[in-house]
This record gives sequence, C-alpha cells and structure tokens, in this order.
Amino acid sequence: MTVFELKNISFSYPNSSNLILKNVSMKLETGRIVTLTGKNGSGKSTLSHIAAGLLKPTAGSIEIKDIPAEYEGIQAGLVFQNPDEQLLNADVESEIAYGLENLNMPIDEMKARVNETLDIFNLKKFSQHSPDSLSDGWKQITAIAAVIAMKPMFLILDEVTAFLDPYWTERIKEIVKELSKQIGVLWITSSTRQVIWQDEILSLQNGLIIRQEA
Ligand SMILES: Nc1ncnc2c1ncn2[C@@H]1O[C@H](COP(=O)(O)OP(=O)(O)OP(=O)(O)O)[C@@H](O)[C@H]1O
Ligand SMILES: [Mg+2]
Repeated sequence: MTVFELKNISFSYPNSSNLILKNVSMKLETGRIVTLTGKNGSGKSTLSHIAAGLLKPTAGSIEIKDIPAEYEGIQAGLVFQNPDEQLLNADVESEIAYGLENLNMPIDEMKARVNETLDIFNLKKFSQHSPDSLSDGWKQITAIAAVIAMKPMFLILDEVTAFLDPYWTERIKEIVKELSKQIGVLWITSSTRQVIWQDEILSLQNGLIIRQEA
C-alpha cells in the first residue's frame, strides 16, 4: 500500500538559484524500506524536510494517504540527522511525551506509551536526564524513540545510526525492519557501503534521483 508519494519535486532554497532537487519522484509503501543515498551535500536532508512538510517544494506535489479513522498515530515522522535540532525538552521522558501530548492522547494511554517506549529503547535510566547531558549516541536513540512513539504512517530516518555503536545500530535496524511491515520507511545514508536494505535503493546525484539495481 502506498502511503506517501513525491511527484516531480524541484527545490531551491530562498535567495539561491541552485536547484537542489530536480524533478524528483519517489514513493513509500508499507512492507518495504526505501534507501536514499548520495554524497555529502547532495540534498538528502533537504528531501527529508520536504517529505516531512517542513519545507515547501518549489515545484511538484506531495501525496499523503489519509489517516484512517481508526489509526492512532501521525502521518509523517522525521528523525533529524542532528539530534540537537530535534530534542527540545527538559528531560528524556518529556521528550517522548511531547509528541503524544500534541496528539491529544488520553493521559493514561500516554503514560503507558511513554513507559513502553522508554523500555524498548533502554532509556529508563535516563528518563529524568536532560537530553543535552547525554552522549551523541543516546541523544540519537532518544530522537528515534520520540518519533517512533508517535506511530507515524511513514517514517524518515536521516543517517540515524551515525553516532550508534554496533549493538544499537543492529537494534535500531531490527526495530525499523519490524515497523516497516506496517508503515512506509525512508532510510537515508550517506555511504553506499552502508546500504543495508535491498528493497529499493535511490541515489541523489546532481539533484536527480537515480534508481539503482538492488
Ligand atoms: N538552509 C539552507 N539554505 C541554503 N542552502 C542550504 C540550506 N541547507 C542546506 N543547504 C545546501 O543544500 C545542499 C544540500 O544540503 P543537504 O543538507 O540537503 O545535503 P545532504 O545530502 O543531507 O548532506 P549530508 O550528507 O552532509 O548530510 C548543500 O549544498 C547545502 O549547502
Ligand atoms: Mg544530510
């Protein structure tokens, strides 16, 4: 099932004539993980911001499948490349609760979801700690946990294992793989050597999407 589609997206930042994205089309479906790769500065994070609705494309359209009435989550979830840009609450527990509060979730359900999330990501020990005080790796795990807790219909992960050790890299991959059965996933990685999902591999080169053979 297609949950998200970009159609012929072009983009340049204001006050710049440089086209970062040229006629980019892609879609996310449940049951498969799309990998987006490309060199530093090729526009991966820019595309992630457009997909999450944080930037408006210069041209083209975005189609997002409507949230079914019974679905309890959000439409788009983006885990930022830099967790410092994402984390803004006083402690880790509030960071997880923040998005759920915005979903107007009943308080008991919210507490249960926060607890469950802290458990899954082994964050209980830091629940009262400020995200600022954590290592880069734990910041990254907190950022991932906070987005996954909101149960997005599609999830964009922008180089989210950059600061993780091998154990947590594997854990996050397992969690994402399991989630991808139900939701659309875009996995962004800067290096083709780190391409781990073989469902569909896209590469950004000079603003164009190149589809690679998996
Ligand atoms: N706010 C901005 N204003 C103007 N130009 C920007 C802005 N943010 C990024 N750029 C430029 O857009 C281009 C694409 O940047 P982007 O961060 O999307 O690339 P990326 O593929 O995510 O790179 P990396 O691998 O380093 O994360 C770069 O040339 C960058 O300098
Ligand atoms: Mg980037």
